[in-house]
Amino acid sequence: MSETNLKDMAELVSLCKRRGFIFQSSEVYGGLQSCWDYGPLGVELKNNLKQTWWKSMTLRDDVVGVDASIFMHPTVWKASGHVDGFNDPMIDCKSCKERYREDKIDPTQPCPKCGAKDSFTEARDFNLMFKTHFGPVEDSSAIVYMRPETAQGIFVNFLNVQTTMRKKLPFGICQIGKAFRNEITPGNFIFRTREFEQMEMQYFCKPGTQKDFMEKWKEIRYQWHIENGLRPEKLRWHPHGPDELAHYADAAMDIEYEFPHGWGEMEGIHSRTDFDLKQHQEFSGKKLEYVDQEDGNKKYIPYVVETSVGCDRSLLAILCDAYRLENEGDKENERTVLRLHPKLAPIKVAVLPLVKKEKLDVPARQLFEDLQKDYKAEYDTAGSIGKRYRRQDEIGTPFCITFDFDSLEDNAVTIRNRDSMVQERVAIDKVKDYLKDKLKF
Ligand code: GAP
Repeated sequence: MSETNLKDMAELVSLCKRRGFIFQSSEVYGGLQSCWDYGPLGVELKNNLKQTWWKSMTLRDDVVGVDASIFMHPTVWKASGHVDGFNDPMIDCKSCKERYREDKIDPTQPCPKCGAKDSFTEARDFNLMFKTHFGPVEDSSAIVYMRPETAQGIFVNFLNVQTTMRKKLPFGICQIGKAFRNEITPGNFIFRTREFEQMEMQYFCKPGTQKDFMEKWKEIRYQWHIENGLRPEKLRWHPHGPDELAHYADAAMDIEYEFPHGWGEMEGIHSRTDFDLKQHQEFSGKKLEYVDQEDGNKKYIPYVVETSVGCDRSLLAILCDAYRLENEGDKENERTVLRLHPKLAPIKVAVLPLVKKEKLDVPARQLFEDLQKDYKAEYDTAGSIGKRYRRQDEIGTPFCITFDFDSLEDNAVTIRNRDSMVQERVAIDKVKDYLKDKLKF
């Protein structure tokens, strides 16, 4: 058996559309650039991914969750530095009007799109925040921003959470939510979009202890990606050099994944110092200090270690990593299979009667309805059994159960494993135990 990895993002985009994972937004109107809609299987996969993250963060006694609003007081973004500093330098080709981020191309070279020489405008700073207005009057006093990161909703709630939950340092606050950035060059499918979801955690700790917690969270976060099934050889660390460090950080490391278009950041682990809380204290005029009862009631602003992973980017890495083309060119045996970790697979089990006959349909459906109480399951009778297996392989379903004529006699079914394609005969009244054993995570 031969197998190849995903070579080209276009193959994945096509699978995602064909099988109901991800569609272009507003497709009937020609689509909206860089915006994508998760279809029925995509939303299951995304929810499973968010659930694994949420569990890994909150099933511990030192991290709690919040769900802050997308709109925040406009001064939040002044204090955080986003109004004045969240800019990308952009340049335009005067000939074909293509727009580039200046740091992503060499402006002394011809335009990569039209080939025109010396055709670039001067670089201009472009703020990445989307603006809108609160209420009916569109003047500057009504401006609000679509949050460009979820982190600030956590910082401004630091004291609310600390006091109501009676938390002692060190502790973390996490959340999952949408973020918006008016990216100059979105692209590579869901890698860089203008609307995306982040899964972020701020870990508040005593000044001076941040280095140790950074190491600890680096390890935890790396392991999370491995436990989602990503292959270690496709992951690497990228430490930020002094010229790359954000204005708020004293150390930063990215976890990168090797996408078909090259290595790209998937998650950032940042030591954000006391920058954000200090800024909010100054701009709001409210004390955001922690009273350390274990250190003589000393008051100080905690330091913060942040873990920030893009949900869509992580999902893209998982899809890229799981994609395999087996026996390419061999008509009989070629198959595309998504080797998703079973905990992430949108459909856990499919029940397939061998042929579409009432005799098989009634008991097979009964089995399906019984399994559906515990698992996201599918029932499929359309087309040959081979075609139905291929469809389930392509959407990453770990187990297919075939109900055949023998099942009527021996009260057993065939369970086929997605990856090995090994088939086992299992008594119908033992199917639930079988799945419980194989799908425990
Ligand atoms: N609070 C820190 C923060 O937002 P960031 O490195 O700008 O840091 C964190 O973003 C993560 O969010 C990235 O590692 C990436 O996974 C995801 N992300 C950022 N911009 C994105 C975009 N335009 N499209 C999709 N994901 C994005």
